[in-house]
Amino acid sequence: MIPLMKNAFLHEHETKKALAEFILKANRLSMDKECALFEKKFSLYQGRKEAILFNSGGSANLAMLQALKNLGKLKEGDRIGFSALTWSTNTMPIIQMGLVPVAIDCDYSVLNVMSANLEKTLAEVDLRALFLTNVLGFTGDLDKIRSICEEKGVLLIEDNCESLGTELRTGKAGNYGLAASFSFFVAHHMSTIEGGMVCTDDEDFAEMLRIVRANGWDRNLTAKQQVKWRKKYNIQSEFEAKYTFYDLGYNLRPTEITGFLGQFQMQYLESNIRCREQNYLRLEKIMQQNEDLVILKHSHITCLSTFAFPVVCKTPALREHYLSRFAGAGIEIRPMIAGNIQLQPFYKKYVKQLFDLPNTNFLHTNSFYCGNYPELTETDLETISSCLYKY
Ligand SMILES: Cc1ncc(COP(=O)(O)O)c(C=O)c1O
Repeated sequence: MIPLMKNAFLHEHETKKALAEFILKANRLSMDKECALFEKKFSLYQGRKEAILFNSGGSANLAMLQALKNLGKLKEGDRIGFSALTWSTNTMPIIQMGLVPVAIDCDYSVLNVMSANLEKTLAEVDLRALFLTNVLGFTGDLDKIRSICEEKGVLLIEDNCESLGTELRTGKAGNYGLAASFSFFVAHHMSTIEGGMVCTDDEDFAEMLRIVRANGWDRNLTAKQQVKWRKKYNIQSEFEAKYTFYDLGYNLRPTEITGFLGQFQMQYLESNIRCREQNYLRLEKIMQQNEDLVILKHSHITCLSTFAFPVVCKTPALREHYLSRFAGAGIEIRPMIAGNIQLQPFYKKYVKQLFDLPNTNFLHTNSFYCGNYPELTETDLETISSCLYKY
């Protein structure tokens, strides 16, 4: 069996051992200095001023949209464009916040929304914001997408939960909009078991994310920020401030275990990304000889930090064939994330306006993926290769 992921962590044994020692020695396990240290390290890695740690990538997405509403940058009924090929908890918070989701088709040869797809949508409907997903380590032409958003006054945020480490000539995936989310769930590029992050250069947005993350209070703000909020609402004492709730929030806090694991896993992140890229390029060479398969384009990407091995077949019948080949070889497989999100039960229940999504439909019926991670052995890679030769 070649599972989607073999271990919970990169360098599993060392990490578990270090985690056990950390827990034995730690005085406090609820959110504290380990979380702050991980945020600092991650913001330096990503090249953003601020990083705010959450208990999951889905929570990071929810918090970004709530924070935008709290700041008045989004209001109920605003239309939010999003990648039709994405994950459920990218789209659900749009609905949960009373915003109107507008599904944008992708270009199947890059798995992602390209600027041409965005332009087509903008010719039909106005968008207040674009919540773009960078799918499976691939991305669209993010520089052009950013320019269109700037020109049309569309607020851009990225869901980079699947593309940590991917780089284009014009910057890292996740650094093209106001902010981006990341996930550290097991099987992502690095794991804190559960965990997520938002990175941004906008200090007001970061401040609001910290309010949203913890009940709506000011405890995790800087002293200067606390003074500002307390003055605004005439909060007279520290005693009163302890239970003053300034705006809508949740409890989306990570624990010190998340903070410790994040820092520990970061030491292995670069080598993991390089290994995933090498594995992908090796298998791509085999796929290039097979006319049953679509070869994904990534010439605009300088570091392809793949999340998994996507396999895109030219017809649904060919997908059936390759699915059974993979299953027969004991390789765990998955659909192309949530496929055409418009076909998902929750979407049909809550969203009235549907769009024509030919490329996303193509991927929905013709593609799938299996795991890609450094623990794949030479034999594993050979087994996967053997399934990619022409039918
Ligand atoms: C694109 C995307 N967004 C959000 C998430 C949610 O992340 P988490 O599982 O950490 O909540 C995922 C999870 O895989 C994802 O793929």
